[in-house]
Amino acid sequence: MADTRHAAPRARIMMCAPDYFEVSYSINPWMHPDDWNSRRDELTGRSADGWSLLRHKLEQLGAAIELVPPADGLPDMVFTANAAVILDGKALNATFRFPERQGETPLFRKAFDQLAARGILTEVHDMPAGVHLEGAGDCVHDINRETFFLGYGFRSDREAAPVVAELFGEQVVPLELVDPRFYHMDTCLNPLSRGHVMWVPCAFSRQGQGLIREIVGDENLIEVPMEDAEKLACNAVNLGDDIVLAEASQRMRSMVAEHGYTTHEVPIRSFGMSGGSAWCLVLRLDRHSKRGARAAQLELAEAGD
Ligand code: ARG
Repeated sequence: MADTRHAAPRARIMMCAPDYFEVSYSINPWMHPDDWNSRRDELTGRSADGWSLLRHKLEQLGAAIELVPPADGLPDMVFTANAAVILDGKALNATFRFPERQGETPLFRKAFDQLAARGILTEVHDMPAGVHLEGAGDCVHDINRETFFLGYGFRSDREAAPVVAELFGEQVVPLELVDPRFYHMDTCLNPLSRGHVMWVPCAFSRQGQGLIREIVGDENLIEVPMEDAEKLACNAVNLGDDIVLAEASQRMRSMVAEHGYTTHEVPIRSFGMSGGSAWCLVLRLDRHSKRGARAAQLELAEAGD
C-alpha cells in the first residue's frame, strides 16, 4: 500500500475569516445594506457558521487551508478569490475597481510575500498602474485547455489580458460580461477537473458565447439551470470529482452527477447577499499549468533520487 503519511494536500487554499463581513455598501446588484442591517445579528452568525463549515468541508476533502488575517473596515476581504491570479507558484496581486475594496491590495500583498518566504509561492507581482484585475474572481484558469478565461466589463479591464499572458505564458481569452448579476467571471463560468465547464450563457455577449462553445465544445459544457445560477451555484469549488457549493436544485445535482461529480452543500447563502459564494471565499494557491505540473513532478522525482 502507498505510504500516505507525507502525502501532499489535494489543494492548498487561502481563506479569510468573516470576522468583519457585512453588507455596508453596494458595488453589485446583490448588495442591499438595509436588508443586511435589518437582520444583522442573525446574518453575522450564519456567515460565521457557514464559513467554518465550508472550511471544514474543504479540509475533509483533503485541502490545506492558509489563513489571511481579516481587517476591520474591509468586509469583502473574506472573498479571497479576488486577491490574485495564481499559477505555477506566481501570484499576480489584484487591483480593485472600487475604492471600497482597494484597501485589500496591500494586505493581500503582505500575505503573499509571507507565503513566498515560506516557499508556498515563488514570485509575487503587482499589476501595472491603472489596469484593474480582480484576481481569480475574473481570471479563471482551465488546465485542460491551458487557457485563462478573463471576464471583463464590470470589474476587470480587457487590458489585463496581455499582462496575464506574459506573466504566466498561457493563452488568455477575454470575454465580455454583459449581465450585471454575473459581474465576476466566477459567477458564470467554472472549468471542472474532468474537462467540463459549467456556465451561465446569458452572462456573456453573443460573440463570447460563440467563443466559449468553440473552445470548450458543446459536449463539455454544462449549462447551470437559471434557478441555480440565480443562487450563484456556478460559483462552486471543485476538487477532483467533488463540487462544494451553497445550494443546488435536484436537476443541477443530477446533471453534474451524470458527468461524474458529487455535490456537497454548505450553508453559505448569507454571502450571496454580498454577491459571493463558495468559489469567491477560496483562493487556490497551488494551481498549475500543464507545463508547470510536469516541471514540479520532475523536481520531485529528482529530489527523490
Ligand atoms: N461584495 C463583493 C464584491 O462585490 C463580492 C465579491 C465576490 N467575489 C467573487 N469572486 N465573485 O466585490
